[in-house]
Amino acid sequence: MSPLASGKFITFEGGEGVGKSTQARLLAERLRAAGHTVVETREPGGTERGEKIRNFLLAGRAKQYGSAGEAVLFSAARDDHVREVIRPALARGDWVLCDRFSDSTAAYQGAAGGVKPTFLRALNRVAVGETDPDLTLILDLPAEAGLKRASTRNDDNAADGEGAVDRFEGMDLRFHEALREGFLKIAAEAPQRCVVVDAQQAESAVAEDVWEVVTDRLEP
Ligand code: TYD
Repeated sequence: MSPLASGKFITFEGGEGVGKSTQARLLAERLRAAGHTVVETREPGGTERGEKIRNFLLAGRAKQYGSAGEAVLFSAARDDHVREVIRPALARGDWVLCDRFSDSTAAYQGAAGGVKPTFLRALNRVAVGETDPDLTLILDLPAEAGLKRASTRNDDNAADGEGAVDRFEGMDLRFHEALREGFLKIAAEAPQRCVVVDAQQAESAVAEDVWEVVTDRLEP
């Protein structure tokens, strides 16, 4: 992170259906109540150009390029997002809460997709540079439980006419188990940045754990 930046950058990570989006929203409310300006954003996406890449990727249209090609596209969207949204917000002193970031590429395209870590590290240097998160909350849930939650969410959304299973939700259980292991390995290798939160608990209990970690580590 740039020495001039005074904001805090928090990312939420984990497999399908772990409840990241809800927890990011609850944390944002709590930080705002404490008087902070909070930018809530997500990946892939977060900018108009990034959302176009998101649609292409999640519709499965980039599958033909293989996992490495998909990683390049996720990184292209990230590069735009970091330059247009994240760095300016941190420079203003805002708190940035991002639903997925580089660890998703390491887990989905790397651990579960088979792309080499050296390749992904090189992409990350280009797209993220020094703008690493101050804190990454990894929401952990057994793969089967997460997939079940994600499919319930899709059924609910289907009632609103937008419930399709996306490119990665549709992968088999082995993929999702490799994903979970990937996230846990990332957490074990970067304990100064990452904290694993048990996402099997009730939503309010997860939110309490998240708040405790944030107050401990970043003193909002
Ligand atoms: P999204 O609907 O945001 O999923 P979720 O609610 O689970 O966060 O879709 C994002 C999907 O893209 C999700 O399946 C994870 C995947 N993804 C990657 O494979 N690599 C990445 O670098 C990122 C950011 C996401």
